[in-house]
Amino acid sequence: MMRSGVFCYSRYVVRSLGVGQARQQSTLRAGDHTLQNGIRAAVLKNIARQQSTLQEKHAAVFNLGIFGAGTVGGGVCEIIANQQEFFRSNLGVDLRVSKVCVRDLEKKRDFKVPEGSDVEYTTSIDNILDDPSIDCVVELIGGTTDAKTVCFEAIKKGKHVVTANKALVAEHLTELVELLEANPKVYFGLEAAVCGGIPIISLLQSAFLADSVQQIAGIMNGTTNFMLSKMEGEGADYAVVLKEAQDLGFAEADPSADVDGYDVRAKVSILAKLAFGTTIPLDNVPMAGITGISSDDFAYAKEMNSTIKLMGVARVVDSQLNIFVSPMIVPLNNAIGTTSGATNIVEVRSQSLQTSSFVGEGAGRFPTANSVMSDVLAIAQGRAMARPFQRTHSTLKLETDFMSSFYVRIRVQDQIGVIRRIGELCETHGVSIQALQQTPVVDNNTVLLCLLTDRAKVSQIDLLTVGLERAGFCADRPFAMPLLTEA
Ligand SMILES: NC(=O)c1ccc[n+]([C@@H]2O[C@H](COP(=O)([O-])OP(=O)(O)OC[C@H]3O[C@@H](n4cnc5c(N)ncnc54)[C@H](OP(=O)(O)O)[C@@H]3O)[C@@H](O)[C@H]2O)c1
Repeated sequence: MMRSGVFCYSRYVVRSLGVGQARQQSTLRAGDHTLQNGIRAAVLKNIARQQSTLQEKHAAVFNLGIFGAGTVGGGVCEIIANQQEFFRSNLGVDLRVSKVCVRDLEKKRDFKVPEGSDVEYTTSIDNILDDPSIDCVVELIGGTTDAKTVCFEAIKKGKHVVTANKALVAEHLTELVELLEANPKVYFGLEAAVCGGIPIISLLQSAFLADSVQQIAGIMNGTTNFMLSKMEGEGADYAVVLKEAQDLGFAEADPSADVDGYDVRAKVSILAKLAFGTTIPLDNVPMAGITGISSDDFAYAKEMNSTIKLMGVARVVDSQLNIFVSPMIVPLNNAIGTTSGATNIVEVRSQSLQTSSFVGEGAGRFPTANSVMSDVLAIAQGRAMARPFQRTHSTLKLETDFMSSFYVRIRVQDQIGVIRRIGELCETHGVSIQALQQTPVVDNNTVLLCLLTDRAKVSQIDLLTVGLERAGFCADRPFAMPLLTEA
């Protein structure tokens, strides 16, 4: 059918060449490939134009109800405004932003809406949820209260849902999976919920499905990576870089979600569910943030040709699943160690693909909105995953008391016997010392020591640091973090 179409159009093009037609026809018969190629190109262009007109005519209307018109919601509206014609003509999807739900109708918006569109702004959640013409709800308001109502009620009403809300997904994962099982016709997209613009969710949903993942580790929070990169590059202290990050709009006025590790905890839990099938109660994930890191730690890390990164790690060790969030000493010869600024990186180690690294923008209007749009288009085109969490269960036992080599920074008052006491405390807690280094004494009240341990359980290191603090010679609380050296 296609062949006869091509033939028919090619005859038409040849006939319509006008002056010199006969010569051209004879040239054609003589087999001039240049002319033939030119004609073929014109023919194909013509067919493409006709097909696109056809596709445009038959582009299926897909109505969106968007919750939130802030950083990400604004980006989604603007991408649709810029690409709507392409979606219609090439993808056969007539995407329409029907309604947008916000808190404040008076607020000036900083994005384009699709031309000629009749977007209705509302403050009523039900105005969208109860509208049967809305095919898909896009939840971009954040938080876990109203956002939960939006997503869960939309699913119950048979509307597809796309969200960028990692906190919501991670906190209510079990309930969400059950709800999706009960509503198998609903598609649920969450690409934007983890690492903004990096398509790590769809990779774990598809490319790694036949593989056996052993470890997922990476930098999953741009704010803290920006801050740590500044501390590393400028030798600045935590408080100084936090202020700078806040002034630049990278960090919130209340930075806890980022700097205490909550954001990474939600993200690594979602990735662990996709990679290993295990649903992890968030409270069970050991979590340490970056607030205790000082410029001294960066100086020690540098001596080891390493740096410090806030990491989310989920890995299988001896048929057990370790998962944790912690700052780690990361070698600079590793892709994670050299990923700086607000950039994110996720490294996946798996049986077949070995080590794969995915680097990109972890946040921001357009990277995140792009991930939202990839889910929206997959749903609108009918090529979305029916079950977003394909691995339903796991035989892996969750082991939160993970093992690693550790770095421990100890500031002590200069006294005879301190090193002996540190050695004794290590022995008491079964921690083997790999190295112990003291910087030359400048101030007798604060002498800096760096202890590197052999592999130990995190619980042993916790007991060791408590023991050190109680021993009476420490100037402040010792600070420990694992080393990224082994699987
Ligand atoms: N920003 C990023 O780079 C990024 C990256 C990855 C994931 N995310 C996730 O994306 C989601 C949205 O983040 P964002 O940065 O776009 O937030 P945002 O800029 O603060 O925007 C939030 C929007 O939601 C609206 N809103 C809030 N509560 C509402 C409610 N109860 N009812 C109706 N509307 C409500 C606000 O309305 P008003 O404008 O009227 O106040 C605003 O338009 C969050 O889950 C976040 O974690 C963000």
